[in-house]
Amino acid sequence: MARGRAVKILLASSNQGKLAEFRQLLAGFDLVSWPTGAPSLPETGAFFQDNALQKAEGARAWWQSHGREAVDGVLADDSGLCVDALWGGPGVLSARFAPDLPSYHDKGRRLLAMLPEDADRTARFVCVLAFVPMPGPMHGGPFTVSGAVEGTLAFDPRGDGGFGYDPIFIPDGHEHTFAELPAGTKHTLSHRARACAALRARLATGRR
Ligand code: IMP
Repeated sequence: MARGRAVKILLASSNQGKLAEFRQLLAGFDLVSWPTGAPSLPETGAFFQDNALQKAEGARAWWQSHGREAVDGVLADDSGLCVDALWGGPGVLSARFAPDLPSYHDKGRRLLAMLPEDADRTARFVCVLAFVPMPGPMHGGPFTVSGAVEGTLAFDPRGDGGFGYDPIFIPDGHEHTFAELPAGTKHTLSHRARACAALRARLATGRR
């Protein structure tokens, strides 16, 4: 695939927080953004992997009839925060948790309020990436890779960096939330960084 040039990947997401991270984590790939006004991609599965594949396949089908340039493949991410005391929730429903609250500081506060005072505060961010190649004799089939980062929940949201639930998540080995830590630190240990490293390795094995 993509002999002698950067692999061109359509990023099937309109989440600006994720996109900013992908641009850092997938430096060296030729990344194409999901166009403004393109349909939002359904995610109706019960597992991160199902949703990531569903989004990537939906995006590939749409791109085949509407895409403005050729790409080698489509990448979609399904990710979320899994809290042990909530039996892994909100998990795949992270983006849909507390839809009445627009701010993630408020969503985080509501989530924290659901925990009993003496609850186990362990949690992890999980990211599954699905890569679906465009049809072609050298392009192979769809695959997924994943990454996770373990941590604990803060008692209150802290910090303005990052996005989503970053203000309530303290990665193991640190005292600050992802929203307080420099972006560079998050990029060395996050669920998305780990999944992107696995994607890079997987795509590299197919290069000549
Ligand atoms: P989805 O993958 O589109 O279902 O959305 C995942 C949701 O999980 C996002 O909207 C965020 O709320 C949350 N999430 C995923 N990754 C991160 C992260 O790196 N930091 C904070 N929140 C995240």
